[in-house]
Amino acid sequence: MSENTQLTVPGSFENILGSGRTEELLETAKPFIELMMQYECAVREVETKLNVLNDEFSTLYNYNPIETIKTRVKDPISIIGKMKRKNLTPTVENIERNLNDIAGVRVICSFPDDIYAIAEILTGQDDITLVKRKDYIADPKPNGYRSLHLIIEIPIFLSTGKKMMRVEVQFRTIAMDFWASLEHKLKYKHNVRDSEEISASLKSCADSIAELDARMQEIHNRIERENEDT
Ligand code: GTP
Ligand code: MG
Repeated sequence: MSENTQLTVPGSFENILGSGRTEELLETAKPFIELMMQYECAVREVETKLNVLNDEFSTLYNYNPIETIKTRVKDPISIIGKMKRKNLTPTVENIERNLNDIAGVRVICSFPDDIYAIAEILTGQDDITLVKRKDYIADPKPNGYRSLHLIIEIPIFLSTGKKMMRVEVQFRTIAMDFWASLEHKLKYKHNVRDSEEISASLKSCADSIAELDARMQEIHNRIERENEDT
């Protein structure tokens, strides 16, 4: 794979297609398509590891710490956009070196304690390398955003050998996910002006959600304790 192969920017797709240079387009896109396939594989590896843990907890303790797993690989337009914003040429090498969130896994847990338990078990596995950890639950963003973010490296095994791939894993409770999804829709999708009132309202909702999570965790712990005693 040529390290310097530059991605064809969307604007020039038409030129190439119109001039009958489709083979050239496919040749240029090949290393990129290959890289995207590798990120897809990495995401599947992470998802399998999480499903294994959930199945094990389910069998041993009759309890599922993970509610849902959502995965995505960033689309090419967003990748090119992000590379532009970072003033980087969108080569395969630059993408791998500079972007941590091409492959994304979102893990929605029932309770805050599950987040830390699963994150710790996952990063403790000997084929996984923890690159970065940002705990926005212990230290929420000023707008109220809460989640635990990990950047990990996980191996995929290709015909040419082992390759470590970067994956962003976000852990949230159901309530934190509810808040983050709505906040994202309200603020970014509809281009709402960032009025102080809306921000304050969202922040207050985030704080209520954190309190709710803490109370639900406490109820869960009490029920577990009572179960153990009986
Ligand atoms: P990028 O934002 O991805 O360039 O990198 P960063 O290093 O600033 O990452 P950070 O860990 O702060 O956030 C990465 C991702 O977390 C985002 O792409 C969102 O999915 C999510 N996220 C971070 N902050 C917010 C927030 O305020 N609201 C919502 N809804 N999501 C957020
Ligand atoms: Mg991102």
